[in-house]
Amino acid sequence: MSEHIDPFADNQDDGPVAPESTDEQTKHQVAALLNRLQRIRRTHIPVPEYDYQQLRSEYEKQANADIQKLQQDTRLQRVQKLIAQADLNPDWLFERMDHSDPILEHAIQTAHSFISGFEHWEQHGGSCILIYGDYGSGKSTLAGAIAHELINQRQKSVIFQQWASIIDRLFFAVIEDQEERNRYRRALEEVDLLIIDEIGANKTRMVESQSSFLGHLLRRRRNLSKSVILITNHNPASLHQAVGDFCFEAIKAFNPVDIHLTGPSRRPRIGNYGG
Ligand SMILES: Nc1ncnc2c1ncn2[C@@H]1O[C@H](COP(=O)(O)OP(=O)(O)OP(=O)(O)O)[C@@H](O)[C@H]1O
Ligand SMILES: [Mg+2]
Repeated sequence: MSEHIDPFADNQDDGPVAPESTDEQTKHQVAALLNRLQRIRRTHIPVPEYDYQQLRSEYEKQANADIQKLQQDTRLQRVQKLIAQADLNPDWLFERMDHSDPILEHAIQTAHSFISGFEHWEQHGGSCILIYGDYGSGKSTLAGAIAHELINQRQKSVIFQQWASIIDRLFFAVIEDQEERNRYRRALEEVDLLIIDEIGANKTRMVESQSSFLGHLLRRRRNLSKSVILITNHNPASLHQAVGDFCFEAIKAFNPVDIHLTGPSRRPRIGNYGG
């Protein structure tokens, strides 16, 4: 008769196995098995009891945290890219402005309304602010602060450009490659917010081809429901003279809100000369 091999036997002594009936043998084997299981239970580190509801909620919490982190990283990258594209002076921020100056109160309020209504106007023809006033009165700073806010809080794309610089790029081939010039022109038309600074800076009447280009650009943006901020040293009447009827009508089509910045230049004096 071949020797019986107990598949569950361990090296511990569970007592001699006497020749018995098959039932008895099975009983012994079961007892030995139970005995062994009890030993394992006593000697092994207890297996933690999992609460699956709790585990699930922990996994969900972790997954949400991961997604949030990813979204924050993506947002930060997008904001950095938008800032780089916008060509903005990093100092143009609301928090750097002199909030105690009553001259600025209305201007800052209007700027905030423009920001809060920005998305509404993206569906309704776009909005426009015309910022005008003397040299150094803070026009570029105010527009730049609006741009920073729209980029940082709403991830809008912005181009901030002096009018002379747009003309140089497009009319005087500062951008040499035709394809690249076309891309730039399209960006001017399609960016969420276009800020054109120093329109008519030299106070003379704009050359016909340039005022016509500006008029077409503004009409195109109006059709695309894209907002603009226009900055100039002219008052509205002299701006009309400078840009001509076609272009001025395009500005009027936006039903612009005007911000008139008054007061002396905020730039520091040179020595004792206050001019
Ligand atoms: N709200 C403000 N509070 C404090 N300082 C300001 C404010 N706005 C502008 N400045 C400062 O005044 C100076 C001129 O501002 P900014 O360049 O915006 O004027 P501007 O009206 O655009 O002038 P220009 O017509 O010559 O382009 C800057 O040095 C700026 O830091
Ligand atoms: Mg300026």
